[in-house]
Amino acid sequence: MLSHLLHREGVESMVVERRSRDYVERRIRAGVLEQASTDLLKQSGVGKRLAKEGLPHDGIKLRFNGEEHRIDFRQLTGRGITVYGQQEVVKDLIQQRLADGGQISFDTEATAVEGVDSDHPRINYSRNGDQATLDCDFVAGCDGSHGVANRFPPPLEGEGGGHRVYERTYPFAWLGILARTPPATDELIYAYHEHGFALHSMRSPEISRLYLQVDAEETIDAWPQARIWDELRLRLAEPKLQPGEIIESGITPMRSVVTEPMQRGRLFLAGDAAHIVPATGAKGMNLALADVKILAEGLASWYRTKSRVLLDEYSDRCLRRVWRAEHFSAWMTALLHRDQAGDPFEHKLRLSYLRYITKSKAAATTLAENYVGFEGA
Ligand code: DHB
Repeated sequence: MLSHLLHREGVESMVVERRSRDYVERRIRAGVLEQASTDLLKQSGVGKRLAKEGLPHDGIKLRFNGEEHRIDFRQLTGRGITVYGQQEVVKDLIQQRLADGGQISFDTEATAVEGVDSDHPRINYSRNGDQATLDCDFVAGCDGSHGVANRFPPPLEGEGGGHRVYERTYPFAWLGILARTPPATDELIYAYHEHGFALHSMRSPEISRLYLQVDAEETIDAWPQARIWDELRLRLAEPKLQPGEIIESGITPMRSVVTEPMQRGRLFLAGDAAHIVPATGAKGMNLALADVKILAEGLASWYRTKSRVLLDEYSDRCLRRVWRAEHFSAWMTALLHRDQAGDPFEHKLRLSYLRYITKSKAAATTLAENYVGFEGA
């Protein structure tokens, strides 16, 4: 997306991608786009398929204790969300970049970023066993939390401070499946059950995306298909949900991480390289898109005027939204997940909070305005 936005500003870039095109286009991730993300994709000319195939949703359902309540985002905030898989966004962007003559080097592993405090940062990379160096004006570290870009060098002499990483781990994970079965619901169902959290999402009228809270150490071997479906039906309290072919399954750990600041010299981190959210609320891709929109503005301004003013503000501008999403994701995770000990007092508090959200317009608005993307952070 950054490469696409820069191209529209007349700035050329090269994307160094560790994986193959096939891998990045197939890898299943979350699927909820905030209004601002949908707007950005459409306004920058990569929203045609999204407009056709994206599923607009005006609310979600909360299920707990045998009750169902709808949270009406449209009524509470005037905005909604769009369900459209992250890898569909990736496919659309790759297609557009290649059609515009953009350079994406797949199967190319960045091994180090050097010279970030100079005017000539470099990316060392290896491709087919050959080592090479890419000389850059700027480096955008969009290579995820396990990439190389966020390994900042120690602070310069007399500079002090350096970087700080804020981090939280959770004792549970999500087991996610993509299944060939029609969604048993028109809107997402977020369910809290004594056994733990479950989520019913979707990708199309034929394909459902479903998640279960599992313990952090658990492996997929402990979850034969019958167990997954039984547990989904129980926790979601959804008799209409029919087992179907499981196309993909995996376990995703839960983590909260923020690196501050998100920049150093001529290196700028964006997306998961700078921050991770637990999955609840599906903020990851939305934050990444918001980061690169700001970064593209800063870089375009530098190429036009040679002024670093916008670039210097990059991290501060991103982090306000990042911390709002960090809080919301941690809050929604705590609200909907069974704690590891299954503490009955915590369980009762959670049920009371859930009921409060369904009875109080103020509480429902807190959930709704954060879910659709709070723009005033
Ligand atoms: C999806 C993922 C999420 O983390 C979420 O909160 C909602 C939906 C999804 O993959 O569709």
